Amino acid sequence: MTIQEINAKTEALLSELTLKEKIRMIHGNGLFQSGDVKRLQIPALRMSDGPMGVRHEFHNDDWIPVGNSDDYVSYLPCNSAVAATWNRELARNSGRALGEEARGRGKDVILAPGINIKRVPVCGRNFEYMSEDPFLTSQMAVPMIQGIQESDTAACVKHFALNSQETERVWVNAEIDERAFREIYLPGFETAVKEGNTYSLMGGYNLIRGTHCCENPMLLHEILRKEWGFDGAVITDWGALHDTKAAAEAPVDLEMSVTSDFGDYYLANPLRKAVHEGQIPEELVDRKVRNLIRLMLRLKMIDVVTEGTSARAVPCPDRKSGCYNTPAHRQAALETARESIILLKNEEKRLPLQPEKLKKLLVIGDNAERLHAAGGGSAEIKALYEISPLMGLKSQLGGNCQVTFARGYHIVPKDIRADVSWQKTSIDDEKADDSFMENRGITDEETREKQRLLREEAVVLAKEADEVLIIGGLNHDYDVEGYDREDLTLPYAQDELIEAVLDVNPNAVVVIRAGSPVSMGRWKDRARAIVWDWYSGMEGGNALAEVLLGKVNPSGKLPESLPYCLEDCPAPAVGEYPGRPLTEEEHARMNAHLTETYAEGLLVGYRYFERRQIPVQFCFGHGLSYTTFACADLEITENSSPDAPVCMSLSVENTGDRTGMETVQVYVGRLDAGSQEPVKALWGFQKLSLKPGEKKRVEIPLPARAFQSWHTDAGAFVTDAGNYEIYAGSSLMDIRLKGRVNITKRTG
Ligand code: BGC
Repeated sequence: MTIQEINAKTEALLSELTLKEKIRMIHGNGLFQSGDVKRLQIPALRMSDGPMGVRHEFHNDDWIPVGNSDDYVSYLPCNSAVAATWNRELARNSGRALGEEARGRGKDVILAPGINIKRVPVCGRNFEYMSEDPFLTSQMAVPMIQGIQESDTAACVKHFALNSQETERVWVNAEIDERAFREIYLPGFETAVKEGNTYSLMGGYNLIRGTHCCENPMLLHEILRKEWGFDGAVITDWGALHDTKAAAEAPVDLEMSVTSDFGDYYLANPLRKAVHEGQIPEELVDRKVRNLIRLMLRLKMIDVVTEGTSARAVPCPDRKSGCYNTPAHRQAALETARESIILLKNEEKRLPLQPEKLKKLLVIGDNAERLHAAGGGSAEIKALYEISPLMGLKSQLGGNCQVTFARGYHIVPKDIRADVSWQKTSIDDEKADDSFMENRGITDEETREKQRLLREEAVVLAKEADEVLIIGGLNHDYDVEGYDREDLTLPYAQDELIEAVLDVNPNAVVVIRAGSPVSMGRWKDRARAIVWDWYSGMEGGNALAEVLLGKVNPSGKLPESLPYCLEDCPAPAVGEYPGRPLTEEEHARMNAHLTETYAEGLLVGYRYFERRQIPVQFCFGHGLSYTTFACADLEITENSSPDAPVCMSLSVENTGDRTGMETVQVYVGRLDAGSQEPVKALWGFQKLSLKPGEKKRVEIPLPARAFQSWHTDAGAFVTDAGNYEIYAGSSLMDIRLKGRVNITKRTG
């Protein structure tokens, strides 16, 4: 259907609706669905979380799971893992699996992907997001959205915008200068709209410049609708509205929330009353309904038939039906998991292990055995199954290798998610944040004693074993919606455990499974091999085992820097995090608890660490392989394409003895960049597979934006004439080739 046809049908159906019916359509009439209009056969819009699979069913008006056995689903690797593959095709496959499963479960909108920029490494939802870099985020988000939408399911890109922390997530105000906003935090959303053609978008909980995102005319009207031309649906985060008039005026289309008093939502009876009383024009309601009807037409939820002068919706016969729990989805999960694993360090070729020689393997650490699918907040999944690392290793090594497990550290249970219906109170104003640290009456001393006993057991066993793997990291008590971590320290005395094991067995391999950075400073230099793994879906344990045992050559690259400690990071060091109390003036004009200035500006993540020369544990883009690669013959060509004014090409050769994959990364830096600007930034990448001795040439186009910056006075991206260095390499710090280009054009 052309956009003209869609719009004509939309107008025809809209003209049939009464005010009451229109109002029904623009607010939740269930925790995950909007109101329907039976008279005209307009169905409810059915939604579900989230990024890692389709969430289980809840009762319509209560956060209690229905509890049937038909809502187990494929559990996909988290978005950070997808980004770590640097493989656009895998992002598309993940999206395709997610969209197909959502449709298969009868959903219209999947509340994914999460693409907020990782401003602070302690943000509890970082595992749901992709990267600290806007280009990598955009490049991975677009195919994922397209993959989702292939199944007549809408992506709902979230959380628009600057929802970069969980502390006071509903009540934190972000103050940011326009250039950093445009160059760092908005490009992911902009590309999702312009290139990904996302059908919907979720407005964040937080405030920007004094106004909540979902009521924010600058964000939703000026930028999203006017500048980017978005004609899809904006859905609120659950409970993100605060005022009927502001919400009516802002171009937000569907109000969702966490309580079951659906008629009392801001866009329900209060809005109907205000329209009746003439305080709010009905045209504002129409605008919202239009966007929702357009969404339904795009999704083939409905068609509109006109008879004489009247129109009504009819079901669309050729809508895709989707499917869930298919072998193809499990394969997509496995392939993504494999390519997401990052070999951080591998001295003296410690890895891979040699399965044929391995007779006794000791696996230490709770994360070897822990299943993560059911945690994390709204990203929780009722997984059809989840292969733990221990199961992956055992099933691949078979019965001739004796695999012993030692838990190694004791998990202190947290109270935070004890209540199944936590979401109902998750945005309560009074919620005490320190409940996070409560631990069901267990004293520190008891905990320490348990940690000591488990550590000692592991150390005794480690002395005897042929090979030792320590599989630790975080879990969804830490990587979780609603809370940020306090620092980067590994919990449960894992540093002590790793040090003690390395004391008796210096060859022990350390695997960190987490969704956000942790400090490895105490043992990083001693450990010979370190592997980074994520919450990597139902096949994650198999993928990890394949990498450790050498069946798969690792090819993941860090989509974010791994700093030593939180104090080293830009937001706490230069900007404000987690925010400061409001001044009196701010208090008078905004409905917030905290405000924070993004004073670090453009210097987010690696842009800061490199510019300020702050050492990190492992840099952005880093990731080793069991083979080696050489790059040569860099060529830079300028061409007339306005979208890709510069193209670079180079040869990559596999100089080792195994087939492997390398991601060539291209960074661009303006030679006269100022001290508040990055030395260089990622503007191109390409992953390729090479057999031993094989050599291939890659061409990587660099987009116009690589040579532009946001000029606030012009209100546009403008090309900055001058000399630029083009860097090609294997990571931010492992640059193999450099070249120069002089950009003269000043067209925007
Ligand atoms: C989260 C959203 C989620 C929604 C519905 C909110 O608490 O912030 O990401 O989609 O709940 O579960």
